[in-house]
Amino acid sequence: MIILSIETSCDETAVALVRDGREVLTDQIFSQADLHAVYGGVVPEIASRSHTEVISYLADRALEKAGVARAEIGAVAVTYAPGLIGALLVGVNFAKAAALALGVPLVPVHHIRGHIAANYLAFPELEPPFLCLAISGGNTMLVDVRGYTDMRVLGATRDDAAGECFDKTARVLGLPYPGGKPLDDLSQGGDDRKYELPVGHVEGMPYEMSFSGLTTAVINPVHTAGQRGEELDRASLAASFCRAVSESLVPRTMAAAGELGYGKLAVAGGVAANSRIRRDFARAAERAGEKLYIPPLRLCGDNAAMIGSQGYYEFLAGARAGADLNACATMEL
Ligand code: KG4
Repeated sequence: MIILSIETSCDETAVALVRDGREVLTDQIFSQADLHAVYGGVVPEIASRSHTEVISYLADRALEKAGVARAEIGAVAVTYAPGLIGALLVGVNFAKAAALALGVPLVPVHHIRGHIAANYLAFPELEPPFLCLAISGGNTMLVDVRGYTDMRVLGATRDDAAGECFDKTARVLGLPYPGGKPLDDLSQGGDDRKYELPVGHVEGMPYEMSFSGLTTAVINPVHTAGQRGEELDRASLAASFCRAVSESLVPRTMAAAGELGYGKLAVAGGVAANSRIRRDFARAAERAGEKLYIPPLRLCGDNAAMIGSQGYYEFLAGARAGADLNACATMEL
């Protein structure tokens, strides 16, 4: 079955065609990052307007690139939560219209479930159950993926998401938005032990996480250096920051993987592109004898192919939406 999938939850407009949840026929992405960079973060109104402008064009281009006829589409899948409400509504309304015009079912997909499903596209052999750490710009959670549509959140961030922490810290260091990649680049060659930064813990809840204190801790040496007129070792501060984030994520995830005992561990979301986190996971998984799955960089960030993959499994599980489907800014996994 070919699914037309739509993703507009934040600042990427994306349309894909995916066969049977695993084969990407095309994955069209228009990134708005340049539109928001001047403001140092996503401006919701600009995001919604930009989605509206490009979505029809992207859908036409997806059909053309894949050489798929409208009659071959079996369902339309769309991200309906969580995300920026105005941005989500553009995708949801487009998907409703497309499903109605094509006379096919409409399937609602949770954005984080989509990120997890990016692993199905990258690794054809991967099937649940497995543990997944989902680390994106808006969410950070450890998920027990018991089945394709049966998931249990073991722990999540209490404050900022890991990606948000990267973006805010990058801003403190004067790097452009979105800051994750520039901060990753800056950290290369830095001394990751030069600055001692905190790793957040929540008393008595080993899988809960906290990142807001980390950004604050980076501000201190930046201000101190500024006030004393000293040169800041930005590369080492970035490297120390990446180490702190990795130490918040990797040991926790490994402990949860050991407890679940599936022997399969996946990582998903934009922050999974981070070179330090990828390296630390590779080492830890090898030591623990866990099979590790981390998608290639192009499938870590927001895309519609992952929505088409998860949409297929949601479809098989019977998920259907009507013309009254609404978007939700927040939603449990
Ligand atoms: O998954 P994603 O594209 O969007 C959401 O669903 O939120 O994640 C975007 C986040 C941003 O915060 C961005 O700075 C971060 O992923 N990111 C990175 C890297 N590349 C992107 N963070 C750390 N290191 C990277 N190399």
